[in-house]
Amino acid sequence: MKGIILAGGHGTRLYPITKAISKQILPVYDKPMIYYPLSVLLLTKIREILIISTPRDLPLFKDLLGDGSQLGVSFTYLSQDEPRGIGDVFLIGKDFIGKDTVCLVLGDNIFHGRGFSSLLKDLANITEGAHIFGYQVDNPKDYGIVNLNDEGQVLSIEEKPSHPTSNFAIPGLYFYDNNVINIAKSIKPSSRGELEISHINNIYLRNNKLNINFLSRGFMWFDMGTNESLLQGSNFVYTVQKRQRLYVGCIEEIAYKNGYINRQQLHNLANAMINTEYGKYLLKL
Ligand code: DAU
Repeated sequence: MKGIILAGGHGTRLYPITKAISKQILPVYDKPMIYYPLSVLLLTKIREILIISTPRDLPLFKDLLGDGSQLGVSFTYLSQDEPRGIGDVFLIGKDFIGKDTVCLVLGDNIFHGRGFSSLLKDLANITEGAHIFGYQVDNPKDYGIVNLNDEGQVLSIEEKPSHPTSNFAIPGLYFYDNNVINIAKSIKPSSRGELEISHINNIYLRNNKLNINFLSRGFMWFDMGTNESLLQGSNFVYTVQKRQRLYVGCIEEIAYKNGYINRQQLHNLANAMINTEYGKYLLKL
């Protein structure tokens, strides 16, 4: 399975912070935002990862993450010159995906909860269909939403509905078979000019190939598109790390535990940031 992180867009809802810098490089407590979605792909044990961002911001991500060899993985970088929609990643990334299955994670999403790693490892083995998640939220109008009938059956996926029929949002983490490339090629931009991920998911649903895993109570999911949710994300990471002394989104720790890097390599990564709590945490591992 290949992995893709979508880290482009203009981040206009965070202006002026994002006027001169990428949203997905902003700090979420003690690490750049992109570490969190990257950690999801590493937990899924995906080693070939494509990072898509704007032509302006791509050099920042290359500086930050390099070719991935320091983590025992490989990063490829491609640009999206205009935010033509989330579905556009399958057109930009079609050669990278090749004949493989693919996991897409949005660059501004944090996921954290018990049992998540083993769920991800299972999803890494999918061969057919699409696998997405449902998550109960208070503000369903802001997301792609699962439309349910009275029996709880999934009728459709709707992008930012003005009259949502459920409170179940679809987080920015999607697993697809290789057919997603053809589906992305077949769809037309929506009225807001985007290739909608919800459109792709509806096609899988119509073909009876959409699986939705509803994330349980206590699970944490954030999409950090606004000032408030960015602060909530930081507060969440701070609280968990302070209380448990277990890091959220620590890519070096996951690479080490996956056996992608050895003790010495982890030591070197820790030493490079030994003046920080982060570096000391890595050393303790
Ligand atoms: O976070 C989950 C939600 O993400 C889903 O529930 C929605 O179905 C999905 O459409 C998306 O909604 P958002 O309103 O959060 O999408 P946004 O336009 O903010 O894009 C999400 C991220 O992807 C954001 O970090 C910017 C990046 N992006 C977006 C588009 C449309 C790109 O890099 N390129 C793009 O063309």
